[in-house]
Amino acid sequence: MCGIIAAISRKNIINILKEGMIRLEYRGYDSSGLAIIDNKNKILRFREKGKVNNLIKSIERSHLFGNIGIAHTRWATHGKALKKNAHPHISSNISIVHNGVIENYKEIKICLKKEGYQFSSDTDTEVIAHLIHFTQNKNNKKTLLTVIQNVTKKLKGNYSMVIMDKNNPNVLLAVRSGSPLLIGIGKEENYITSDQIALLAITQRFIYLHEGDIAILTHSDITVFNSHGISKKRKETQSKINFNNVSKGLFRHYMEKEIHEQPHSIRNTILNRLTKNKTIYFSEFNTRANKILSKTEHIHIVACGTSYHAGLVSKYWFESLSMIPCDVEVASEFCYRKFVVRKNSLLLIISQSGETADNLTALRTAKNLGYLGSLAICNSKSSSLVYETDFSLLTHAGIEIGVASTKAFTAQLTVLLMLVAKFINIKKHNIKLEHDIVNILNILPDRIESILRYKNTIYTLAKKLFYKKNIIFLGKGEQYPIALEGALKIKEISYIHAEGYPIGELKHGTLALVDSKIPIIIIAPNNNLLQKIKLNIEEIQAREGLIYIFSDLFTKFNQNNSNIIRFPYIENLISPIFYSVSLQLLAYYIALIKGNNIDQPRNLAKSVTVE
Ligand code: G6P
Repeated sequence: MCGIIAAISRKNIINILKEGMIRLEYRGYDSSGLAIIDNKNKILRFREKGKVNNLIKSIERSHLFGNIGIAHTRWATHGKALKKNAHPHISSNISIVHNGVIENYKEIKICLKKEGYQFSSDTDTEVIAHLIHFTQNKNNKKTLLTVIQNVTKKLKGNYSMVIMDKNNPNVLLAVRSGSPLLIGIGKEENYITSDQIALLAITQRFIYLHEGDIAILTHSDITVFNSHGISKKRKETQSKINFNNVSKGLFRHYMEKEIHEQPHSIRNTILNRLTKNKTIYFSEFNTRANKILSKTEHIHIVACGTSYHAGLVSKYWFESLSMIPCDVEVASEFCYRKFVVRKNSLLLIISQSGETADNLTALRTAKNLGYLGSLAICNSKSSSLVYETDFSLLTHAGIEIGVASTKAFTAQLTVLLMLVAKFINIKKHNIKLEHDIVNILNILPDRIESILRYKNTIYTLAKKLFYKKNIIFLGKGEQYPIALEGALKIKEISYIHAEGYPIGELKHGTLALVDSKIPIIIIAPNNNLLQKIKLNIEEIQAREGLIYIFSDLFTKFNQNNSNIIRFPYIENLISPIFYSVSLQLLAYYIALIKGNNIDQPRNLAKSVTVE
């Protein structure tokens, strides 16, 4: 969502802020801004609507110099994407950048207005800036730390933020509340960011703040206080992420690169987890986790967007392979309905980022409802979700920058299939099946490589579809969630209206839309459902539907051959992962032909940290 970068040094920090904002832009990209204290002790602020590049152009004209500064890339929540709403927000000597939402900002705003404060934006963040200034002026003997501690007690909601005070020009204050903030350690300089990606070009040394921490940074020192105001030493970690891995390399877009990285990211995800005895080994699981797993009689999956679709695929696997009943629902619904927790139920939250607010609210809502425990499947080790769940499994897909999730999705499915095999082992259902899953996971990266070789075929199809207004995706069984995911990818980056349906459901309403113009993409692998799918295809053909069938080289259909997109043979167990890659490529090429901003589609953000 929004991105924060701040720096304090003996040298000029402008380039650090600029580079950091460019790297953070994937998190939010409707406006950006920065503020520094210059050598005359004046706050200079620059803000622009739109891409970070607009801001950089306006800064470059000004030849800025500052040893301390804060910057922000925004995804609008309160107030439209306008220059006046871009961060930093200023109240006299105080300037701040903020990630999160202040739930009680309206009440505070009313009080501050009575005290004579005037507001120049529609944001909740400006309220914090004025409240800090007000509290500081009322208690002018108090330190900035005490002022911030007082202010945070009055705020409800999430407020990870960095504060810069012209009257204390040698310190930056950072508060972690609700979304991650980490400190980067440099040589005679220190930094704060919401995502290590912003700093990897200059440091690999990081300190992750804990929830409720307040940190004080000078160019040479870092002091951290916990939520009770007690000074704490937080562990320094060395980032293992290679800076080159966060560049596009020879690809045009991050999404294209991430689609092509999937054989590698899946290899990483299974690495050291498939044993020679053909069982699954999760080093993350301690005795307590294994105990919870062996007691589990029901799995309740909660997730959003693409991760929700991964959950839906796994429902088929959990129930048909490991015989464990499984329910899946979107987090934003789960939080706000009354439901009965099944006996011995495990809460499983799937999230690429681990910062999605809907998931975190779901987790906190579920805490005392009687689940056996909570398990996260996540791509970020340092995320709030991993921190707050009882145990977690990492997907090891590597940083994903394209907003439309691709390699994180297939890595989630890979971990879910491993978890299914683990349950088969624990429940001692069918050991041969567990071995089969291990064998198949071993060849999965090669299978993904084989479908990537078909990109020219998919590009040819994209050329037939890019000008369409609607596309329907159909699947059956495990391929139904893949149809949903294919439709989501198309909506996200090509802005074409698309819907996914179970193919058997089409006749119950949506068939009314079918004509010779709307393309209908049917995922039809050669499995036990194929005969039923063929019947449904006949029904569509009888209405002159414009059908494209995704299948394999050997399956026979009555349809015109030019409308059958044939891929290599794929084992049934991993066919959802395989076909999802073909739909990622289709969405990518349609968006490419349309000339859309593929990595940063309009109105979206990589991780949505507000409900
Ligand atoms: C946002 C993104 C989606 C993503 C969803 C869930 O809406 O735009 O691409 O699938 O969040 O994100 P998560 O990080 O929880 O998997």
